[in-house]
Amino acid sequence: MARIGLTGLGTMGAALALNIAEKGYPIAVHNRSTERTRAFLDEAGPLAEAITATESFEALAGALETPRAVIAMVPAGDPVDAVIEGLLPHLEKGDLIIDAGNANFHDTRRREADLARQGFNFIGMGVSGGEDGARHGPSIMVGGPAESYAPIEEIVEAIAARYKDEPCAAHLGPDGAGHFVKTVHNGIEYADMQLIAEVYGMLRDGQGRAPGQIAELFAEWNGGPLHSYLVEISAAVLAAKDPETKRPMVEMIVDAAGQKGTGRWTLIEALTLGQSATAIEAAVAARSWSAAREARAAGAEILAAPEGKCHPVLDSDLEEALLAARIIGYAQGMALLAAASEEYEWGLDLARIAEIWRAGCIIRSALLDDIASAVREGLPHGQLIFAPRFVGRLAEGMPALRRVVTCGLAAGLPMPAMAAAIGFYDTMRTARGTTDLIQAQRDFFGAHGFARIDGGEGHHGPW
Ligand SMILES: NC(=O)c1ccc[n+]([C@@H]2O[C@H](COP(=O)([O-])OP(=O)(O)OC[C@H]3O[C@@H](n4cnc5c(N)ncnc54)[C@H](OP(=O)(O)O)[C@@H]3O)[C@@H](O)[C@H]2O)c1
Repeated sequence: MARIGLTGLGTMGAALALNIAEKGYPIAVHNRSTERTRAFLDEAGPLAEAITATESFEALAGALETPRAVIAMVPAGDPVDAVIEGLLPHLEKGDLIIDAGNANFHDTRRREADLARQGFNFIGMGVSGGEDGARHGPSIMVGGPAESYAPIEEIVEAIAARYKDEPCAAHLGPDGAGHFVKTVHNGIEYADMQLIAEVYGMLRDGQGRAPGQIAELFAEWNGGPLHSYLVEISAAVLAAKDPETKRPMVEMIVDAAGQKGTGRWTLIEALTLGQSATAIEAAVAARSWSAAREARAAGAEILAAPEGKCHPVLDSDLEEALLAARIIGYAQGMALLAAASEEYEWGLDLARIAEIWRAGCIIRSALLDDIASAVREGLPHGQLIFAPRFVGRLAEGMPALRRVVTCGLAAGLPMPAMAAAIGFYDTMRTARGTTDLIQAQRDFFGAHGFARIDGGEGHHGPW
């Protein structure tokens, strides 16, 4: 009998199934279309010995040790409900379904509660690291009842990435906690990708550098404080040539980005929780605007360009600017996690989250070790940017970020995420902001009232 089951042998599911088999756990697999199951088995090589291929939910359930545990690795939304509906008649009370896709955490909360009422266990498990991570060691964020997780903890830790021998997998809290953390992880990923793309834009459009030259610079930066998976792969991507035209591959790619929802969900939750995630918002907006290709092509003719030129920015400025903005992207994500933890009473351990992001996941970077330490040392007012180990780094990096954005603005280069990072930083260091005027305006037109600095609420002005 197989120790665990998996349905959904797409990119992620197939890789995860092979990872599980390789770690010595017999696994039964299933896919909606049986051709994919057969192709998967053909490609499994010697690992096929540890794999039982099944062609129905009934057969999948029949191939598993009890109590059963079945991973669903299918797209978020209706496919997850379809899998649950298909599986349930063949499961027994006490069996466990693990949604390892990128579900919306509200759905995970609903599913967990619904299934618990029927006597079944349900876990929402965020898996990050793309196909390669799933195959060789992803970062895994688990949410749901701790008792439901216990039977599969050993397998999850065995297949996870390792950072200095520690598994990058953790049970983070009840119900939707794991999927929420994965969503925010992806939000931070959006911001980081956008920041790197903005630097690429300045180098390409502001300084006329070729992709190969930018690749070299990124590869060099990857050896320093910017060391990260995303900078590393950006260098690799920019160095690649199109096999057909021999031109840089990136020049052959349409500049309209896709998105599946996790960036948008991060923002929706940030707004709902009264939080600021402006670097992430800028990144989501940039992807959305990128889709309007025809309008942008027309805009290039219709709209006036600035007179100013982008005088060359030092490479060292760009490097420091990217690092400072990256810190702010993480800081906004961390603040959002803290707010959600309080709202949903999850008791999230933010340091542990930073720790399990240090390897396996897409946002892994040299910075995360410091972030984990900073959180363990305590964040003044809950702000990562106030943490002693980041105050000095930001003091050093912000002037560079200001120079880069100033130059980008003068030359008309879009830098929405970098500019948003500065806006957040400056707002957080302004003790006396400008919302006194907003409050006065609100009172003027809507008699909303305001608090006075010399005491008392609900005052009105003499307008
Ligand atoms: N790709 C990544 O880098 C990545 C990283 C982290 C997390 N994720 C998440 O992992 C999940 C799977 O992503 P993927 O990239 O592996 O997707 P994929 O390659 O498109 O595979 C989707 C799988 O889901 C199955 N499926 C689709 N609709 C279904 C339905 N209604 N009922 C049953 N099965 C259905 C497909 O079966 P058929 O073969 O029959 O179509 C296929 O096996 C998603 O939630 C995704 O957001 C992806």
